[in-house]
This record gives sequence, structure tokens and C-alpha cells, in this order.
Amino acid sequence: DLGQTPPTIVKRRQLTEEIVELTIKAPLIAKSAKAGQFVRVLADEKGELIPLTLADWNESQGTIDLVIQGLGTSSKLINQMQTGDSFVAIAGPLGQPSHIEPHANDKRAVFTAGGVGLPAVHPIMRSHLEAGNHVTLISGFRGEAHCFWTEPGGRVEALKSNYPDQLNVIYTSNDGSFGSKGFVTIPLEQMLIDNKEAIAEVITIGPPMMMRAVSDLTKGYQVNCVASLNSIMVDATGMCGACMVPVMENGKLIRKHACIDGPEIDSHVIDWDKLLPRFNQFKPQEHQSQIDHLL
Ligand code: FES
Repeated sequence: DLGQTPPTIVKRRQLTEEIVELTIKAPLIAKSAKAGQFVRVLADEKGELIPLTLADWNESQGTIDLVIQGLGTSSKLINQMQTGDSFVAIAGPLGQPSHIEPHANDKRAVFTAGGVGLPAVHPIMRSHLEAGNHVTLISGFRGEAHCFWTEPGGRVEALKSNYPDQLNVIYTSNDGSFGSKGFVTIPLEQMLIDNKEAIAEVITIGPPMMMRAVSDLTKGYQVNCVASLNSIMVDATGMCGACMVPVMENGKLIRKHACIDGPEIDSHVIDWDKLLPRFNQFKPQEHQSQIDHLL
């Protein structure tokens, strides 16, 4: 989708102190986007490309929605952009779309989302709901100050009112200031104990340690689970090698590219001991970059 007029921000919403939602004019991406796909964003000529999962899109208005947490140099710079500002380029949609099919016997898809994993699961949940599937969302936050989309009239409530018989939502927070206290694994484990047969699959998107915990838990109960590994990607071109995921396939350790084979990967075949340290592989460079940019 490179080559169209520069993608321009048409709406900006500050969701929390460090999280911003942008609606961006990008008609070609909006036309072909599918649930689970991502885009590659270049905010300024000298900046880095960053991959971001599509939070939503509107084909008739020709817009896409992205939710960005200001963590690194580039994401902090993007979060300072205002309505009317343009990106140098946004490429996409990229990655394999989520695999969605109607579930037999009313089985549910259970989503565990941590922080900005919520916008990433949003289009995938909606596609499951459109396919007639039952969905449970377990959405975890650090605390009330970090919550977004949860208010009356917010995205989650809007989805709930469109599919009242299909969607139920559970909120958790680490400190108990919003929803129930604890990690997303607590209500998930309760569901597995109560009736694991009612769960067709679990989809997890969020911090690496959370995804691992969800993967270990579902593996123990032999319930399918996919993890979306967007956060390990760097250039998302298949060339830098940063997103290599060690997986066991037919008794052999092989490597998959999260940016090409994913972002969703069967979490039970991932070698998490080898994968987890890779999420921090560019920490020293990121730290230096923030010093250089006085962020
Ligand atoms: Fe660079 Fe996948 S992110 S190869």
C-alpha cells in the first residue's frame, strides 16, 4: 500500500497517559484488511518501521484505527503526532489473517488480552461473533488508570450490545482497582476447571510472560491456544530475522518468522524458554535511542 498519498491522522484520542488511538486515512489498507493482520508504520524519514496490529478499519470512510503505547522512541514520537499530521508511509495489510470458522456445539473462543492486546484482539473477536461463535473476553490491565475502551459506550460495551447473547466480558487488574484482582489466568483457569469441553480455542495477545502463562495453562488442559507474536517483530519484512520463533514440529526444532508465518502461532509448540529472552534483545539499543532523543 506504499505509494498512495501520505496517510494522514484524521482523529486522535488520548486513551490513557501513555496510550493513544489514531484514526488514519489509508483507503487501500481499509479495503483489504482482515482480522489479525497488521501494518508497518514509518513516522519520520529517519525513524524505524514499527509493526502495529490493526485495531479496526472502516472501508467506506477509508480509514484504519491504530492504538499505540508509547514505550520506545518511535512509538513515543507517534504518540505526539496530532490530527492533520501525516506518516511517511504505512504498508499493509501484512501477516496471515486469523483462522475463523463456525464452532461446532456452541463452543466458545476465549480471548485473553493484556493491556494493548485488547485492540489487537478486537477485530478477531468481532469476526468470531459475525461467524456466529460464542466469545469470552478476559481483558487484563495493570490498574484503573491504564484501562481504556471499557467505559459505557466504549468499544467493548458497543460490541457487547451488538452481540448480547454471544459475548461475555471479564475484566481483571493487577491491583484490583478495576474488575477482579489478579491476572487473566485466574478466570481462564476457572473456565477450564468448570467446563473445558465448552472451549474451542484460546487466543492470547499481550505481554510475553502473560502469553506464556496462558499457553502453559491451556496445554495442561489440552485446549488449543494461539499466541499473536507481533511484539517480537522489528522490521516485519522477513529479512531482519528478529522475529524467529523456535517451534517443535514433528519432533524437530524449526524456526518460524512471526511476521510471515504469523503473527498467530500455535502456542503449544513454541519453545518459550528460548523465545522469551528474544523479546528483550534490543533493550540496550532502545535505551540509548531514548537518551539520544531526550525522551
Ligand atoms: Fe524482521 Fe520478521 S520482523 S524478519
